[in-house]
Amino acid sequence: MLRSSRLRKVLRTGGLMAACALAGGALFSVSSVSSHTRRSSSSSGRSTAEGNSAALVTQGRQIFRFDDFGDNAFWSGALQLDKAIEGRSHGGVGPGVSPKTALSLGLKVDASALPHSVLSALKAGKVNLDSPATTLALIKLNAVVGVKGHFSRSGRMTSIGLTCAVCHSTVNNSVAPGVGQRHDGWPNRDLNVGAIISAAPNLKPVTDVLGVDLATVRKVLASWGPGKFDAELFMDGKAFQPDGRSAATLIPPAYGMAGVNLHTYTGWGSIPYWNAFVAILEMHGQGDFTDERLDDPVKFPIAAKNRFGHVRVHGGQRDLVRSKLPALQAYQLSLRAPHPPRGSFDRAAAARGERLFNGKATCASCHLPPTYTEPGWNMHRPAEVCEDAFQASRSPENAYRTTPLRGLGTRNRQDRRFYHDGRFHSLNQVVEHYNSCNRLALSARERSDLVEYLKSL
Ligand code: HEC
Ligand code: HEC
Repeated sequence: MLRSSRLRKVLRTGGLMAACALAGGALFSVSSVSSHTRRSSSSSGRSTAEGNSAALVTQGRQIFRFDDFGDNAFWSGALQLDKAIEGRSHGGVGPGVSPKTALSLGLKVDASALPHSVLSALKAGKVNLDSPATTLALIKLNAVVGVKGHFSRSGRMTSIGLTCAVCHSTVNNSVAPGVGQRHDGWPNRDLNVGAIISAAPNLKPVTDVLGVDLATVRKVLASWGPGKFDAELFMDGKAFQPDGRSAATLIPPAYGMAGVNLHTYTGWGSIPYWNAFVAILEMHGQGDFTDERLDDPVKFPIAAKNRFGHVRVHGGQRDLVRSKLPALQAYQLSLRAPHPPRGSFDRAAAARGERLFNGKATCASCHLPPTYTEPGWNMHRPAEVCEDAFQASRSPENAYRTTPLRGLGTRNRQDRRFYHDGRFHSLNQVVEHYNSCNRLALSARERSDLVEYLKSL
C-alpha cells in the first residue's frame, strides 16, 4: 500500500528514472525499505505493526532453522554426538557417519545451501556419499537440516547442536531422496531420533537422569522408530504403553497453528510455553524454565526429583532461549498448512464429505473450521474419543487436545499414521473408529466421502 502510493507520487512528479531508482532501492536495500516504513509509520499505526511482524518472522525463521540455544553443550559436550559423526579418521570415535547413513537415519539436506558445483556433482553421482568427511562438509555448509555445527578458526568441527528444524522441517526431495528445498513446519516422519541418540558415544547423562542401565536406554530408544520422539519420557520415565507398545508420540506439524489455543497432543500449554519446554528440557538448551506442575512426584517423578520446573541458568551463563521466544512464536504462527497435492482427492466426494463432517458425523462439534480445533479450551477426556487414558495421564490436564486437521491431505501422502501414537494407519481407520465410537451409522459411501474431505484439508 505504502510503496504503491509512493510509486504513484513518484510517477506523477519525477518520471521514469526516479521510479527505476526506487525499484532498485527496494530490490537491493532492504534497510532503506524498512527505514522508509519506519518513517511513514507515525501517520499510520498499521505499517508499524506490519514492519514489526515481518521483522519477527524473519528473525524467528533464523532461530527455528539454525539456533541450537547452546544445546551443543549437551549433544556434543556431554553425549559426544559430534565424535560419532566425525569417526576415528577425523578425531572422533567409531566409523563416523556418512551422508548415506545420515540420510538413512532420516536427516535431510537443504539443497539451497549447496554451491552449484556440489549440486551438479551430486546429481551426477560424483559426491562420495560413503565418507564422513562429506557429512562434515555438509554440516559446515549449514546444509544438514536441524544440525548446527560449530567450527574452530582452523575449520575443525568443535561441536554440534540440534535445532527445532531437525524434527519440524523436511525437504521436498527435488534433488534426490532426502535432498531438496526446505519445508519448514512439516514433521520429519523419517527421522529416527532414537537411533541418532543411541549413536552417541556417551549415554551416561541419559541413564543417570532416567535411573536405568544402558541396555534399557538402548532398548527404549530402539522402540521409537522413525518419526517419533517421547517428550514425556524425561518427565515420568514411562517408556512403554501398558500393552507393550512404545510410549513415544509422532512428531506433529508446526504449521497451521495460528488461532489454536493449547498445543501438543495432550495440551501442555501455549506455543511459547512449549517452545521453552522443548528448548530447555528436551533439547537441553541454556535458559530458565518454570512450571510448578512438574513438581508432582507421582505423575512426574523424574521431573520432580530433578526440579525441571525450576530451571535457572548457572551464575555467569546467559539465557539463550528467553529472548528468542517472541520471534520463534511469530514464525510458527506464520507457517500455513500446505494445500493438498493436486489430484489427491475427489472433489465431488469431498463436498459431500464436508456436509457430513459438519452434520451427521458430528466431527465439527470438536474440529471447528478454520482451525479444525475448538476456539477456547480444546481438550477432551479420553472416553469422549473412545481412547485409553495412557498418554493423557502423562500430562498435567489428563486429556487429549483436539488435533488441528489442516494439512492432513499432505500428511496422508507423506506418512499414513494418525492419532498421537500413530495407532491408525489410514484415514479410513480413523473414520471407522469414530463411526463405532459415536454410533454414527455411516454407510460405506458416507465413510469414504468423509475420507475424501479429510484428504482435502
Ligand atoms: C526431537 C524432536 C523434536 C525437536 C527437536 C523439537 N520438537 Fe517440537 N515436538 C516434537 C514432538 C514429539 C511433539 C509432540 C509432543 C507431545 O504432544 O507430547 C512436539 C510438539 C511441538 C509443538 C506442538 C504442536 C501442536 O500440534 O500443538 C510445537 C509448536 C513444537 N513442537 C515446536 C517446536 C519448536 C519451536 C522446537 C524448537 C525449540 C521444537 N518443537 C523442537 C518433537 C520435537
Ligand atoms: C469429542 C471431540 C472430537 C470429535 C467429535 C471428533 N474428534 Fe477427531 N480428534 C479429537 C481428538 C481429541 C483427537 C486427538 C486424538 C489423539 O491424538 O489421540 C482427534 C484426532 C483426529 C484425527 C487425527 C489427526 C492426526 O493428525 O493424527 C483425525 C483425522 C480426526 N480426529 C478426524 C475426525 C473426524 C473425521 C471426526 C468425525 C467423524 C472427528 N475427528 C470427531 C477430537 C474429536
